[in-house]
Amino acid sequence: MVIEKVGVVGCGLMGAGITQTAAQAGYKVVVAEANQEVLDKGLKNIRGLLERAVAKGRTSKEEMEGILSKIEGTTDLAQLKDCQLVIEAVVEDMAVKKKVFKTLDKSCPKETILATNTSSLTVAETAAITLRPDRVVGLHFFNPVPVMKLVEVVRTIATSDETFNAAYEFARSLGKEPIGVKDSCGFVVNLLLIPYLLSAIRALEQGVASIEGIDKGMKLGCGYPMGPFTLLDFVGLDTTYHIAGIMFEEFKERHYAPPPLLKRLYLMGHLGRKSGRGFYDYSTDPPKVVSFS
Ligand code: 3HC
Repeated sequence: MVIEKVGVVGCGLMGAGITQTAAQAGYKVVVAEANQEVLDKGLKNIRGLLERAVAKGRTSKEEMEGILSKIEGTTDLAQLKDCQLVIEAVVEDMAVKKKVFKTLDKSCPKETILATNTSSLTVAETAAITLRPDRVVGLHFFNPVPVMKLVEVVRTIATSDETFNAAYEFARSLGKEPIGVKDSCGFVVNLLLIPYLLSAIRALEQGVASIEGIDKGMKLGCGYPMGPFTLLDFVGLDTTYHIAGIMFEEFKERHYAPPPLLKRLYLMGHLGRKSGRGFYDYSTDPPKVVSFS
């Protein structure tokens, strides 16, 4: 199976990153969003990141225009029908994902591989509603997609060897390092990362140390590029809240349960960098830590 054209559903943080990365690797990409306004915002973000790369001398202006010319935006999922691989990167909500998969299953030829960028939902559940469960796979990217090297390639009990191998090779062709993982909630990275992030919030709730103290502890003590609160704001508190809920539902283990403070921040729309406020306030440069007392 030769992949020449890639479809991406969703042009948010992850979808835009996947779109940019695939176009940079030479693929033609059709990216679909629910409405023109969100699509334009996502495409503008891609252009902005590429312009930054040009300003830093990492890419030429011609290369940037070449990458952008490979990207086509649409608000109609049917436009993805001539893609050999379609990657769904919509919100972490099974009902929404199922709707997308059902539509894609109808509009794409039966050979098309359908992939989900889910971070914690069961891939088999999306595969099961299609007429091609053998051609459904998980491709879990990490934020920021153009920078992070890892892709988890998720194999369900129905994924064929051909589909898994094509998805694995596709990830490698993007310059990523894929790992094969079982269709188990959270795969490898979130299985370990989510309890760590939630433990940081619980440590804060218990008054073990301040936000800055905990962030500094993990950065300097473990050599992590970001402390847990900086990373929580970076990933998005809505995303973390949803993943934690899904993992708690699956395993019924306390360390996956969303802590009360995370729930309240989510309910208030304080979602981290994307909303301008989470554990830090991004209205100033550098961002200021938020006080919850
Ligand atoms: N998109 C594209 N490129 C970006 C970027 C973005 N959002 N943010 C930074 N970059 C690029 C910069 O352009 C720069 O490239 P250059 O060196 O070629 O100029 C490079 O990344 C480094 O950026 P900076 O110098 O501005 O900043 P840092 O050195 O602090 O690096 C970081 C930024 C790469 C984000 C680093 O802090 C990091 O690795 N943080 C941890 C990120 C992480 O853990 N991600 C995984 C989250 S979990 C996840 O996604 C799973 C999900 O299911 C929850």
